[in-house]
Amino acid sequence: MSLTYSSYLNLPELLELQRPRSAPPEHDEMLFIVIHQVFELWFKLMLHETEKVERDFSRNDLYGAIATWKRLRTILKTLVGQLDILETMTPLSFSSFRERLDNASGFQSFQFREVEFSLGYKRPQVSGSIPEHEGQRARAEARLRERSVVDHFYDFLAQRGVQVPAELFEKDVTLATQPNEALQDELLRVYHEQPELVILFELMTDFDEGFQEWRYRHIKLVERTIGSKRGTGGSPGVEFLKQSLWKPLFPDLWAIRHRM
Ligand code: HEM
Repeated sequence: MSLTYSSYLNLPELLELQRPRSAPPEHDEMLFIVIHQVFELWFKLMLHETEKVERDFSRNDLYGAIATWKRLRTILKTLVGQLDILETMTPLSFSSFRERLDNASGFQSFQFREVEFSLGYKRPQVSGSIPEHEGQRARAEARLRERSVVDHFYDFLAQRGVQVPAELFEKDVTLATQPNEALQDELLRVYHEQPELVILFELMTDFDEGFQEWRYRHIKLVERTIGSKRGTGGSPGVEFLKQSLWKPLFPDLWAIRHRM
């Protein structure tokens, strides 16, 4: 049989994958499942793109990196906007099927951890909450041990004549990105001298702001839907999530702004 729209996209299989657990079915559970599945598809694409931007950086491809950051930023903005749909579900409606989730939670999303780790937001302790099932935890842990987008960014900067402090190339790659004052001085100089790199830096700042926006919007969604209840993943809920709020992915790009 020739290729069709449906066979190319594996639609029969895809549309079989939404299986509400409530019986009789609670109307909003379908929305809850579809939104999470769509987010996981976006996470998959984001990882595909962060891998590309790492290659762009390491081979000194500025235009490739700019195009990829533009795509990443657009995915992120779209993803954050989609939370509006889930906010049409009332707390009462969610509580009608919440117990069916048992301990399942976004806390166990191995792809989300991979996204965080690939962006240099590394927290080894959180991978412990990912089930070992089907190599999911191993996937996140492998990403933890890999060089992040930020490490590849340092490669790129060095190729563009930026004096990247040697300690940034020698650091333990399993640790989260730390601000570096000597690099900040250099980035400030670049802002004055290399306008083509400024386009890149501003796109990365847009993305970073978008990532913090995702965290904020997710917290408000959680707060309006379950208030101060504990999470199904076992964390204190909103108070746990707030720990990551306002923490930038690219701290050096934020630290220099008051000096311009
Ligand atoms: C009614 C909607 C939602 C509620 C009530 C909710 C609740 C929570 C809570 C309480 C946590 C903290 C961990 C825990 O103890 O479970 C959490 C974490 C998380 N949720 Fe949600 N969530 C909702 C929607 C979403 C959606 C649509 C996504 C998209 C994939 C998502 C992804 C995540 C992720 C990735 C984490 C881990 C965050 C981190 O560790 O910083 N959640 N969620």
